[in-house]
Amino acid sequence: MDISFLLNGETIALRGVSPTTTALDWLREARGLTGTKEGCNEGDCGACTVMVTDETGSRALNACLLFLPQIDGKALTTVEGLAAPDGSLHPVQEAMVAHHASQCGFCTPGIVVSLAAGQISGETDHDRQLAGNLCRCTGYASIARAAEAAGKQPVPRWLRDLPTGPAPRGAPDPALPATIDALADHLMRNPDARIVAGATDLALWINKANRDLGPVVFVAQIAEMARIETAPYMTRIGAGASVEALRREITARHPHFAAMLARFASAQVRAAATVGGNIANGSPIGDLPPALIALGATLILRRGEATREIPLEDFFLDYGKQDRGPGEFVEAVTLPHAPGAMDRLKVYKISKRFDQDISALLGAFNIAIEDGKVQSSRIAFGGMAGIPKRAAAVEAALVGQPWRLATVEAAAAKMAEDFTPLSDLRASADYRLEAAKGLLLRYWHEDQGAKATVQEVRP
Ligand SMILES: Cc1cc2nc3c(=O)[nH]c(=O)nc-3n(C[C@H](O)[C@H](O)[C@H](O)COP(=O)(O)OP(=O)(O)OC[C@H]3O[C@@H](n4cnc5c(N)ncnc54)[C@H](O)[C@@H]3O)c2cc1C
Ligand code: FES
Ligand code: FES
Repeated sequence: MDISFLLNGETIALRGVSPTTTALDWLREARGLTGTKEGCNEGDCGACTVMVTDETGSRALNACLLFLPQIDGKALTTVEGLAAPDGSLHPVQEAMVAHHASQCGFCTPGIVVSLAAGQISGETDHDRQLAGNLCRCTGYASIARAAEAAGKQPVPRWLRDLPTGPAPRGAPDPALPATIDALADHLMRNPDARIVAGATDLALWINKANRDLGPVVFVAQIAEMARIETAPYMTRIGAGASVEALRREITARHPHFAAMLARFASAQVRAAATVGGNIANGSPIGDLPPALIALGATLILRRGEATREIPLEDFFLDYGKQDRGPGEFVEAVTLPHAPGAMDRLKVYKISKRFDQDISALLGAFNIAIEDGKVQSSRIAFGGMAGIPKRAAAVEAALVGQPWRLATVEAAAAKMAEDFTPLSDLRASADYRLEAAKGLLLRYWHEDQGAKATVQEVRP
């Protein structure tokens, strides 16, 4: 594959590159840019953080989960490219020194790049920005102080004017389509081609399982597939939209869902992971499907020129099995909304760590009340079955009943009719079932004004 991009301002043109070479391996092995560190090689530690810039802005990404074709036509900045051409340090670098925020230094390049990218993109919540950057020895207090200090500084001129476009692109390649039509066409001709979106799942197949992905096709260049459009009665989310773009878009309309998404992995993973990837991978513990199902989402699938629409819950047939034919792909998902309707959605993520952790289970509740009675109920869980699944018996026990604790307790007792969860390393079957019942009760108590989030009950 032929690709081209900017590396710390320099045009790089690569010919015949293997499509699954990660930016991390290439930077370190082919370019000797060893400031970008390899810690976990699976997106957990942030030591490999780099900044990628295109017409949509700058973001921190994990270089270990980034295949080179994903940056075709974009600008890549590594820790070596953060200082000014005359050697003056970036304000984040200066603050890290001034606040003694580095001991062994292994995590430091990743932290510096993460904060620099956060500064450019206007992120002021440093905890949120750094949730994906692990430091073993400094302790976070001095890093947080450095982040605070640097955050007050303006973005340095040499980064503000970072050339992004028109960044060079490699030779046109059918495996790097620029339009949805071209992708559809490519998949009709090559139904076995594996779609690479954010690669936050697929890169692990290479890095950890040593698997061969076979023929691949990338969606990173398809701007129309990453679009999120809001109309009076619905929001259309392109499959290529990142989880972070979704979080920002829904903050006003579905604040509780957006707050949960701030706990989806880390800033680096959220900026890469796509909505389509989180649905299409069919994972029973993906964080988006239950919430989207509770909102009544419709999935738009495309094969060649034909599109079809199905309720999102119908896409998940069985563990590892989805309703998707050869050459077919997820194009978008739509969310209905009535203008002025009150948001009743709450999404509860249960995981062992607060940040940067996969859910043991996740419950999404969207229960509408009218005149003291349950008018409608959409409840979906992840982690309770082999697929993301609605709680049909619980929903049925609620609808038409008075919105009282007794109703909710009776409905919660139906949870075992809907689910027979498994025990695994994240949680036991009993824990999952009890927690799922507890989440429904929590929804009711919160609706009565009780405070139950970790942040709110903390003194
Ligand atoms: C450190 C780390 C933390 C994580 N934390 C979370 C978390 O908190 N919550 C969570 O839900 N997930 C988490 N994940 C998993 C992962 O980030 C998500 O599942 C992500 O949304 C996958 O999207 P992607 O674009 O990266 O998919 P990719 O890796 O590019 O693709 C995944 C699969 O989907 C297919 N695919 C992608 N797009 C399409 C499409 N449009 N049509 C058809 N098929 C398609 C691919 O072919 C592939 O089989 C985490 C991953 C890592 C590495
Ligand atoms: S090496 Fe740990 S996140 Fe990339
Ligand atoms: S300074 Fe050693 S890991 Fe952070």
